[in-house]
Amino acid sequence: MPATVPVEALLKRTFVDFHQMEEFAKDPLVIERAEGLYYWDVEGRRYFDAIGGIFVAVLGHRHPRVIEALHRQLDRLTFAPPLHAISDVALEFIDKLSSITPGRLNYIKPFSGGSEAVECALKFVRQYWKQSGHPAKYKVVSRYFGYHGGTFGAMAASGTGSRKSKFEPHMAGFLKVPPPTWYRDRFSSWEECNRFAALAFEDVIVNEDPETVAAVILEPIGNTGGIITPTEEYFRLIREICNRHNVLLIFDEVITGFGRTGNMFAAGTFGVTPDLMAVGKGISSGTVPLAAMAAREDMGEAFLGRPEDQVQFMHGHTYAGNPFACAAGIAVIEEIQRHRLWENAERLGSHLRARLETLKRHGVVREVRGKGVLLGVELTGTKIGTALKRTARANGLIMRCDPGWFAVCPAINSTIADMDELFDLIERSLVQAIETTG
Ligand SMILES: Cc1ncc(COP(=O)(O)O)c(C=O)c1O
Repeated sequence: MPATVPVEALLKRTFVDFHQMEEFAKDPLVIERAEGLYYWDVEGRRYFDAIGGIFVAVLGHRHPRVIEALHRQLDRLTFAPPLHAISDVALEFIDKLSSITPGRLNYIKPFSGGSEAVECALKFVRQYWKQSGHPAKYKVVSRYFGYHGGTFGAMAASGTGSRKSKFEPHMAGFLKVPPPTWYRDRFSSWEECNRFAALAFEDVIVNEDPETVAAVILEPIGNTGGIITPTEEYFRLIREICNRHNVLLIFDEVITGFGRTGNMFAAGTFGVTPDLMAVGKGISSGTVPLAAMAAREDMGEAFLGRPEDQVQFMHGHTYAGNPFACAAGIAVIEEIQRHRLWENAERLGSHLRARLETLKRHGVVREVRGKGVLLGVELTGTKIGTALKRTARANGLIMRCDPGWFAVCPAINSTIADMDELFDLIERSLVQAIETTG
């Protein structure tokens, strides 16, 4: 970066998501390049990226196969107008993605980000019910602590307290239940607690009148709140509740998708097939913005008819299905499939998880949870996590740190040696955080 760039002044004219920029500008992290598991900042310092950017670089940064696919696409086509055409590569991407989605989730629309994919799913279910004989179904039930994106619909479905309250009032018809972690101290077992938390969805649906409820949306593993990982039974019960009341089940797999949890999607990990999915982040391994909505193929039929029927889906975004992004998505999926990387995620995850469990000896870890390489560590108290963010950075380690927990999600093509390097960095940073908080 040229020495003449006024970093501090510029930082106060923009913002890093959810950050207080006065504070950030005092010691900014300005990244210059990345390769595999590492970032380098403008000062030349190296960082171990334990969170794949932010749950994005599923194959690590700048994976050669993805970069090569992008070069090829760059020479052919980088934009196709979504208002009157579709590119060949977007169709190929749709075919590729539908070959890995669970069940018959073969109705696919690519987008440029997770919020767009969620927003699309919410609009899709509303229009679907309107033209499928249940026009009064519009409400959506989701969870406190859930995060589905920053746009108004996705935010209304999110349950993230102060991230939302600044923008009230929110859209009508979005209802919430707490996640199982909220209740766990009131139950003698995690299984019983999950059963109760799942049945809470039914209580809300029944009391609202099922004929007004369109969908349930949830992340199979919730990042916000500390990698909230329910039981398989929790999802089975929610699936049954949705079936019983004719309510659609949407999985937000923006974080959990693409091999991380030990299966291509967390739907497979938990053994439940939703009616719709939103996917994003890892889908292009952090190269070009890409996301998608996938819905049951038969639902798509409700949108087919004559022009005068006006049943086509009334939705779109200019960069949706961008050919350049679709080329990256195809390469990522092929790379995961070719090496069965979900199996590696499982192997890496169980090694790292066992090592994270040993952190309990330091007396500040309450629980380790997650699936595959998507792992979270809940801390006792709320001081350590804030200190850990600082000590980790000083040790050249980037993770997702919250006051009460931290999360990691390393690339699924990493090695066991990478996991050991990561663990050593985590332990060193945690010990230093304990020392600094006294
Ligand atoms: C589970 C989940 N859904 C949706 C989103 C929104 O995705 P994006 O930030 O790409 O719009 C996020 C972003 O963090 C997420 O974690």
